[in-house]
Order: sequence, then structure tokens, then C-alpha cells
Amino acid sequence: MDKLMIAGGKPLRGTVQISGAKNSAVALIPAAILAETEVVLDNLPNITDVAIYMEILQEMGASVSRMNDQMVINPASMKSVPMPNGNVKKLRASYYLWGALLGRFGEATVGLPGGCNFEPRPFDQHIKGFEAMGAKVSNEHGSIHFSAKQLTGAKIYLDLVSVGATINIMLAASRAKGVTIIENAAKEPEIIDVATLLNAMGAKIKGAGTETIRIEGVDSLHGCRHSIIPDRIQAGTYMIAAAASRGDVIVDNIIPKHMEAVTAKLQEMGVHTYEMDESIRIAGQQEYAGVDVKALVYPGFATDLQSPMTSLLTQAKGVSILTDYVYSSRFSHVPELSRMGAKIKVEGRSAVIERSILCHAKVKATDLRAGAALILAGLIAQGGVTEISGLEYIDRGYDNLVENLRGLGGEVWRQEE
Ligand code: EPZ
Repeated sequence: MDKLMIAGGKPLRGTVQISGAKNSAVALIPAAILAETEVVLDNLPNITDVAIYMEILQEMGASVSRMNDQMVINPASMKSVPMPNGNVKKLRASYYLWGALLGRFGEATVGLPGGCNFEPRPFDQHIKGFEAMGAKVSNEHGSIHFSAKQLTGAKIYLDLVSVGATINIMLAASRAKGVTIIENAAKEPEIIDVATLLNAMGAKIKGAGTETIRIEGVDSLHGCRHSIIPDRIQAGTYMIAAAASRGDVIVDNIIPKHMEAVTAKLQEMGVHTYEMDESIRIAGQQEYAGVDVKALVYPGFATDLQSPMTSLLTQAKGVSILTDYVYSSRFSHVPELSRMGAKIKVEGRSAVIERSILCHAKVKATDLRAGAALILAGLIAQGGVTEISGLEYIDRGYDNLVENLRGLGGEVWRQEE
């Protein structure tokens, strides 16, 4: 596997185009299984998770073609083929097959998901939703088996706010008999994106983006064409990178409203930000104030941006405290940042971050967003070349990464491991 080489200390300058949202794409592709006719998805990111899902659907009999950022899926000849192993173990979002296959075929056998395992990530809320709709669920030999003669609408109160469970229940409920109400639903933009696709397919979903979502099941769904929303996590990563490298970058093709929590926090640190209709310009400064960051469910500061933010906070005056209220121990990036000189202490679900001089080192990405933190640290480190292994994680969520960073003046290249 290649490694990423970064000669740091150079400010990023210019414009970067943000692609479609990974965390939408990995739900929209399986959602197409619910349609009886062709679904066309535009603005797909060029990442490995999308490629893996394309293979999974083809293995189940769908015809899927890909041209640049467009994917055409014809699920008409699909079968609910058991998928105990293989590709389903390569990404966490393979769990969206559960709701889609249950909704379309009334049964599914899928191997337990893989993906970023920075801490145990249960799926009891997904199961709770399916069982409430009448599905029988068993977990045997590393696979989950679902069956339901006929899913029926139910009132489901999620014990905690879960993006995955909210979307998965929406997928199954769109074909259930009767009305399903999801209470305490997640409000992330990706939830709205999936509901928009399903409604374009003929589903009857109201309230996506609020804590209460109403889904009136229908007998069948048809194909449609849908353009995926921009990736707010990719956008936030480049915004933070612009501030960290003390550069001047326009992050383009985004929805600024989705970035509000990041923009506000950067402003609080002293970063200059300029918001346009579909872009935000970030002008880095020499001095930053330390701030406290709370990673929360949307519209709070995204947990997926807490690790890149940690790298930026090493450049701020004083002490910053970053607390993740979504995951209890998402700090696998901290030991690697410490190898570069970062002064960070992890206490429970908080990281206490002091101003640090970062130096180049050989470090390893252990999950997607930890990799983003190491890239930002490499851009900050003065003199020398930082070597980052574990690129397979980074390629899951950041497409055209080297080209984008080089286009912004970053001295970044891939090298054979
Ligand atoms: C989605 O994961 C994202 N992944 C994650 O992004 C993101 O960090 C997370 O939402 C939170 O925003 C995708 O969309 C593919 P959750 P998901 O269910 O749906 C607990 C990235 O880097 N929980 O909202 O799996 C869970 O352990 C990835 O792009 C249960 O206890 O997250 C966590 O503490 C990483 N039981 C919290 O809820 C359940 O049944 C939120 O998880 C489900 C979740």
C-alpha cells in the first residue's frame, strides 16, 4: 500500500472543489435497491466505499454502471442474495443493506459490518426499529438474518440519536404496511438527502431533518434521478487545513449552512471567514486563540471533524479542551500526533490540547478521520517530510486528496510503502 509524504510549512492557497457526501452516497446506493426501475445518482464521490457498494449491488444481480460522478443502478433483477462475507465487511455502512433488503424482499442475510472501528459501534437501535416493524432478527455465525412476511408501520423511539438507525428504519418503513413514526431521530443533512431520494422514488416521508419523521409505507417504489449533497465533512477538513497552514483557501461547491458550527468555531479562534452562496473563503492568521470544542450530533460540531480540529488546536494559544459527546474514545489519532510533538492529554471523552511545535515523523492512520488529523499535522510541521501510512483508510473518504492538496500548493505526494 502507498504512503502519503508531506513536506510541511507551506500555506495552502487557491480554490478546492468539494465532491458529493460519502455519508450520503453509502446510504443512497443501497436505497436504490427499493426501486423497481432505474435510479440515477449524480455527484458521487470517487472513494473506495462507493466502489465497494457498486460491487455489492452487482453481486446481488443489479446492473450498475459508473461514468465519472454518475452511477446508474437498475435493481429490477436483484435477488436478496445472502452476503455473509466479502465486501460487506469492508465498510460500516453495509448495514444499510438490512433496511433496503427487508423493505424490498422481506428478508436479508448480511455479514456484520466492518469500517472504522475506533471504538465499539453497536447497532441495537437498528434492530429495535426492525423488530418493532415485525421483523425476526437473529445474529448467527457473524451474520445478521432478517425476515418479515410483511413489515408493518410502528412508533419507534430511538434510545439515542443515531444517523444509521434513523436512515435504516426509514429505508425499511418506506415499504411497510401503514405508518411508521421515528421519534428522537437524527437530524443530519444526510438524513434529508436520503428522504429526498426516497420521496422522488414515490415514498411518503415527512419531517426528515427534525427529531420526528413520519413514513407512510407504499406498495412499490420507482426509479428517479438524484444529485447528492456536498460532503460537509470533506469541506470542514479543507477549511480547517486552510487555517492550520495559515493559508487562504476558497472551499467551493458546498452548502454553507451545513458548515455553521465549524465556521463559528474557526471565527472564535481568530480565523477570518467569508461566506458566499456556495463557498466559504478561509484566511488563516498567525495567531489563534485556544477554544473549547464540543462534538455533538447535528447541528453541533461534527464528531467527524474533531480529529482534524485537534491538529489545528495544537497551534492555538493556551489550552483547548475538545470533548466528543457522540463517541466516548475517538482519540486513536492522539498517540500519532504526540509522535510529531503534539502536547495532548486524553481524559475520558476529552482531549486537553496545549500549544505545540509539530515536527515531521513517520505516523500511521488507524481510521479515516484520524488520517485527516495526521495530514493536517504534516502540513503544519516545519521542515522535513512527514510519512503517513494507512492510506487505505484515507482513500475511503477523501477523493482526489493529493491532487487537491497539490492544487492548493501543498507539497504532497504518494510513495510506494
Ligand atoms: C454515522 O455513523 C457516520 N457514518 C459516522 O461517520 C459519524 O461519525 C456518525 O454517523 C455520527 O455522526 C456514516 O454515515 C456511514 P450513529 P453511524 O449511529 O450511523 C451509538 C466517518 O468518519 N449507537 O449516529 O454508525 C454509536 O456507538 C464516519 O465518516 C448505538 O449505541 O453513527 C455512537 O456512539 C465515522 N447503537 C452514537 O450512537 C446503535 O444502534 C452515534 O452513532 C447505533 C449507534
